[in-house]
Amino acid sequence: MDVLDILEIESEVSLPKRYSELSVQEMEARVREIKEKFGDRLFIPGHHYQKDEVIQFSDARGDSLQLAQICAKLPEAEFIVFCGVHFMAETADMLTGPNQKVILPDMRAGCSMADMADINQTEKGWEKMQEIWGDTILPLTYVNSTAAIKGFVGKNGGACVTSGNVKNMLKWAFTQKERILFLPDQHLGRNTAYDLGIPLEQMAVYAPLTQTFEYEGEWEDVKVILWKGHCSVHEKFNVQHIENLRKTLPDMNIIVHPECTYDVVQASDYNGSTNFIIKTIEAAPAGSKWAIGTEMNLVNRIADEHPDKEIVSLNPFMCPCLTMNRIDLPHLLWSLEKLEEGEVVNQITVSEEITKYAVLSLERMLERS
Ligand code: 13P
Ligand code: SF4
Repeated sequence: MDVLDILEIESEVSLPKRYSELSVQEMEARVREIKEKFGDRLFIPGHHYQKDEVIQFSDARGDSLQLAQICAKLPEAEFIVFCGVHFMAETADMLTGPNQKVILPDMRAGCSMADMADINQTEKGWEKMQEIWGDTILPLTYVNSTAAIKGFVGKNGGACVTSGNVKNMLKWAFTQKERILFLPDQHLGRNTAYDLGIPLEQMAVYAPLTQTFEYEGEWEDVKVILWKGHCSVHEKFNVQHIENLRKTLPDMNIIVHPECTYDVVQASDYNGSTNFIIKTIEAAPAGSKWAIGTEMNLVNRIADEHPDKEIVSLNPFMCPCLTMNRIDLPHLLWSLEKLEEGEVVNQITVSEEITKYAVLSLERMLERS
């Protein structure tokens, strides 16, 4: 049984059955009522990948970078009910004050990519890397990682990145050290390093499960060590999807998130962060056609918000991020009704020991964003 199964059982025990018997209208009315009652004491941040049924109640909507920036400057909200995934709620806890409580409405809302780098694997891998390259490596972690990994990175002089600032952060990292370890998303690391002019031959992949390197050249030539992790959502786009579209609808613009594989990014017309995708389509002329390679809740929302443009998913059989989707209206209402009763459920807290170093990696990122 893995951690998600255990959390699932706990969460099912916790979410009373009556929430499945309430109508959507009843639940929405109660959320509105509780929000009004709490006023400024309650703040609901929402990631763009969240479902419409919860994002409609968010006080701020953004991608990972925007949400981290918002949380770092959040005024005195006592309760932060985070509509996003676990690592985002951890980040919010670390960036907010000691009297602010961060709640994740459903503890099963994890991230499979963040789970691909655990701290023990990272420490073991780091030891091997030090043996090969000595003190020449700076670690960078995508914010889609556990607080413990952020702490490890902070302790070793490195920083967090998001898809919105990754290029600048990588440039900065190379002013600090000769080589970069990029965790946990190999694709974001590879795509960005390549964009900055680093050839694929100078990138090694570290596979944590076998504790081996996938690399054929000389150790000395390695500039970037990519952790072998990926996003299971963005890996569902492939070059065949692009080729099919190019044949059938050649006037479609193809825009993808850099969590997609290198081949997909190379074959697309544009690539960039969630915010970049939203802004690019907002600025596009009426009548333009777009195939988007990113999470499906967001693609559907962009399509709804731009009826004057033709917008489809790059993968016609794409589905939403399942863990993002764990946050639904019943769980949101349940966590709010508990607050109303004076009980905090599913609070996310990061230990002081981890926070001390993880905040360093977040601050190094926020200072440069
Ligand atoms: P951004 O919000 O940085 O674009 O990341 C996308 C993502 O996968 C969030 O889980
Ligand atoms: Fe994690 Fe990918 Fe889902 Fe983002 S979209 S939460 S990276 S699994």
